[in-house]
Amino acid sequence: QNFGEENNGSSFQIVTRPNDKTKTFESVKEKCQRKGYDLTIESIRKNILDVAGIRIITTFRDDIFKIVERIKSLNDVYFEEGEERDYITTPKSNGYRSYHLIAKVGIHSRHGNALIPIEIQIRSKGMDMWASVEHIVKYKSNNKPGKEIDDMFAEIATIIDDFDQKA
Ligand code: GTP
Ligand code: MG
Repeated sequence: QNFGEENNGSSFQIVTRPNDKTKTFESVKEKCQRKGYDLTIESIRKNILDVAGIRIITTFRDDIFKIVERIKSLNDVYFEEGEERDYITTPKSNGYRSYHLIAKVGIHSRHGNALIPIEIQIRSKGMDMWASVEHIVKYKSNNKPGKEIDDMFAEIATIIDDFDQKA
């Protein structure tokens, strides 16, 4: 969905995670094992907060913070205070930049009522391009990338950020 016009000339898109709108059970299991959580319904509910996710891609860096404010002002959505990550102001050491929020949305079904966590990632087009390539290089390839590749990603992330701030 595009919100360009109502947002005063700036534009952003909401995209669902390509091929990954909800985590597979295999992925939940892998994460529980990796982090040492029990593989019970209660434990998954408590510990795995990214079973569902949406990503919002902006054109400009400033729009990221505007969107965060707008999302936080939504009614009927709760936020896990401790789960907010501002990797825009404070990037990760590898250069990763993105703003993450865990929104809790109430759902009502015949099984009862529940608050479902949804991971919301907000980042610019440039940051999104960087992250999608870095993710593939980091997780999908068999041999670990060396220092040269790590340095290249860090350097490119800085250039992208510079570009985003000047654009
Ligand atoms: P996870 O246990 O991996 O979910 O990390 P976390 O609970 O500390 O949350 P964090 O907000 O750091 O990361 C959540 C999600 O952001 C990850 O599942 C990735 O989709 C994305 N992410 C975080 N760090 C990186 C990174 O260095 N590179 C890329 N490409 N994506 C990242
Ligand atoms: Mg997480």
